[in-house]
Amino acid sequence: MRIYDIIAHKRDKAELSDEEIRYFVKGYVKGEIEHYHASALLMAIYLNGMTERETVTLTKEMAESGDMLDLSGIDGITVDKHSTGGVGDKTTLIVAPIVASLGLKTAKMSGRGLGHTGGTIDKLEAIKGFCTSLSPEAFTENVKKHGICVVGQSGDLAPADKMLYALRDSTATVGSMPLIASSIMSKKLAAGAQCIVLDVKTGSGAFMKTPEEAEELSRKMVDIGNSAGRRVAAVISDMDTPLGKNIGNSLEVIEAVEVLKGKGSEDLREVCLVLAGNIIALAEGVTAEEGCKKAEAQLESGAAFEKFKEFIASQGGSLEQIENPELFPKAEFCHRIIARESGYIERMNAEMIGSSSVILGAGRAKKDDSIDFAAGIILNKKTCDRVEKGDLLATLYTNNKKSIESAERLFLDAIKISSNKKEPSPLIYKVIR
Ligand code: URA
Repeated sequence: MRIYDIIAHKRDKAELSDEEIRYFVKGYVKGEIEHYHASALLMAIYLNGMTERETVTLTKEMAESGDMLDLSGIDGITVDKHSTGGVGDKTTLIVAPIVASLGLKTAKMSGRGLGHTGGTIDKLEAIKGFCTSLSPEAFTENVKKHGICVVGQSGDLAPADKMLYALRDSTATVGSMPLIASSIMSKKLAAGAQCIVLDVKTGSGAFMKTPEEAEELSRKMVDIGNSAGRRVAAVISDMDTPLGKNIGNSLEVIEAVEVLKGKGSEDLREVCLVLAGNIIALAEGVTAEEGCKKAEAQLESGAAFEKFKEFIASQGGSLEQIENPELFPKAEFCHRIIARESGYIERMNAEMIGSSSVILGAGRAKKDDSIDFAAGIILNKKTCDRVEKGDLLATLYTNNKKSIESAERLFLDAIKISSNKKEPSPLIYKVIR
């Protein structure tokens, strides 16, 4: 077999055989296939797509390219969730303790922020002492003992995805439906959970700009998971506007704690309940509505917050900070953004607002940049809200004074105020099972 012929097949719109896909993934991970050959094949896939069988085979090969976590020693049903990425998306911090407080075993490998989107690992590291890097043995032990553990992705999990993602990032081939689906699902299959809920975001701050694209991606990922014997649901949720009101690592932990205490933003609480409800539905065979009610009861009774504290303490995090959010380090500078006109907020571009928070220091411009955990934005107004000239729109927080001017400019460009009140877009578009 020759990589040249495989590229030519895909270029000519032929369906690749399982052997050809296997030859490519194995060869690339071993360093036997050159980057330029792999780039050419990725571009041919980007342009000509993949059939369902090709996508399933590619995903399985990528999943099996490194360690496959074996969670079979854990008593009970193992569950996982994954978000395709958004702004203000702190749902894992709320959903994981809700379902763990019901006895489901939450074994989760999370990522760091990417571009304008935040990552759970960065948020957890904003908590003093919290350790996101555990050995596979310690990870499994924590899940057994506390019902919940969240760590960063280990280097040996789906290494083919790590290599191919970096190549896609530099060859303009990220935005391909089969490549995104196989990238996400290879990591989820390797991480081992029996039940997986995918939060597929749509809108200005998401990879999938329209609900139709989000639905196509969701169906592909659910099919891949099912064909590997996992129970999978995809919740298509809005990311046209940031989720909740806090953006930035410490600020997001603080907002997650508010929701766990039965308060907090209504939109964030609702998305979390739907995600938790669907995990419970997959695991326990109840309807998603029944799952949602169970999840709500865990928030109301305080059981989810107790489980959250147990989880934070089990990974070395400071409970003092969780009990007293004012103990999170404060940013040196805070800057209020004031409305310059009256009207209704017609749009808040989530990608631009996420990028504004990155400028303030809440994310990384380059892979190895450090994060300012105190940096971020608190939104005072959101899409569809009435605003009077002089009202507070948002407050920016940073330790880098020089960043404020450009962050404010980008924030103001992201917002459109008009005289007509817009109908709110749905928070949840659809659930695919
Ligand atoms: N997230 C991933 O893990 N992979 C992609 O290709 C896109 C988003």
